[in-house]
Amino acid sequence: MAAPHPDDAPAPTGRMVTLTCTHPAQGGTFIARHEGRVVFVRGSAPAETVIARLVDDPQEAADARFWRAEAVEVLEPSPDRVPTVWPEAGADGVGGADWAHIALPAQRRIATEVLQDLLSRAKVTTFPVEEAQVEPAPGDGDGLGWRTRVRFAVDPEGRIGMRGWRSHEVRPVGLDPLAVPEIVELDVPSWTAPAGTEAIDAIAPSQGPLALVVVGREVDPEALELPARWDGVDVSVQNASGLHPVRGDGLVREQVGDRTFTVAQTGFWQSHRLAASVLSDVVEADLGVRDGDIVWDLYGGVGLFAARASLAAGPGSEVVSVEGSARASALAAENLADLPGARAAHGDCTAWVRSAVAAGARPDRVVLDPPRAGAGAELMRLLTSCVTMRIVYVSCEPSTLARDLAIAEQEGWRVADLRAFDLFPHTHHIESVAVLERAA
Ligand SMILES: C[S@@+](CC[C@H](N)C(=O)[O-])C[C@H]1O[C@@H](n2cnc3c(N)ncnc32)[C@H](O)[C@@H]1O
Repeated sequence: MAAPHPDDAPAPTGRMVTLTCTHPAQGGTFIARHEGRVVFVRGSAPAETVIARLVDDPQEAADARFWRAEAVEVLEPSPDRVPTVWPEAGADGVGGADWAHIALPAQRRIATEVLQDLLSRAKVTTFPVEEAQVEPAPGDGDGLGWRTRVRFAVDPEGRIGMRGWRSHEVRPVGLDPLAVPEIVELDVPSWTAPAGTEAIDAIAPSQGPLALVVVGREVDPEALELPARWDGVDVSVQNASGLHPVRGDGLVREQVGDRTFTVAQTGFWQSHRLAASVLSDVVEADLGVRDGDIVWDLYGGVGLFAARASLAAGPGSEVVSVEGSARASALAAENLADLPGARAAHGDCTAWVRSAVAAGARPDRVVLDPPRAGAGAELMRLLTSCVTMRIVYVSCEPSTLARDLAIAEQEGWRVADLRAFDLFPHTHHIESVAVLERAA
């Protein structure tokens, strides 16, 4: 049976216990045993003994199958432990860098172990699980300075920081070593945000000015007092009535190869500065499109993979980018406008594919890049019934990827390839790309 996800467990109190962590669990924690139960320990590492604070009330959680804990003191360090790259992150600090105290190569080894375990537990049988390895993103040396999107949290007094692990508390933050230098230089935390601000998003696109979005239902765009150091920065307010550009047009521009994509400041774009390029290259190679192909780019965002597929397949092809956000889909239509045969469709992917299949559609190749919940059984069954050649599945959540690959296998498909990339260094998150083909 699959290990329970630690986020399913009940809420905190604080008893201190000594725990020895053995191996990694899904979600960035490490497994220890205490009083006959599994404890998921955050902030530790494999083969490490720590004093940890239980974050489930042992009374209330008496019947729970597992507890959660946060390491607060290391008694016997793991061989993988190194001085943290971000001292402000950790048990009593900010979230967003839960493996900052683990050596970078060890992070990838541990993520590989988790990925392989999830594939085994999901009973993925057509791909040798030991070949699923987490690779560094080509061009990423130290895993620092990669994040092009950073969300700051704001407390009721307007102080800007970041949220703690599983906490709503806003904790002070100085330099974020994972953010690209352009965002660090904005020095967002030293600003005092206006009343009602809940969050501030900092965006460093690969082209054009940086952007800041001040988020809060009640924030008045007219009342913003911006420091001089942000003179060249585009600024918007996202309040109850929508996005209000104060400076700029509410959009950012991202360059991948020689193409430019327009993205809403509040819309999805891959966070690692190298991710859009790395993933586009892998998806293009994995799709293996031919002239005249029909290709679907599901969960297509602003058309990143659709553009690459259309360019590779040529003007005789038909490429559709399907996206659930109306704004992103409209931008995808603009981003694809110069590519003959490429278009954008707006809608829920499962519903869109269901009606396309009912109308007799038979795409040659499909790339899908769902959010963490994954594609799900209905969409996987629809795709395995209608796609003639290949399905390329891009995933930011290996547990739902493993589940969906197993569904495809049950429908007579095989996993022909699977690569995983460390596109979120110093965190437990990984990005995977799997290739599905009909089994012979
Ligand atoms: C991980 S992002 C991928 C976007 C794009 N492939 C890229 O790399 O830029 C997932 C996208 O799926 C969209 N989405 C989420 N649920 C959806 C659904 N049920 N149907 C269609 N799109 C959905 C989101 O708005 C988001 O743009």
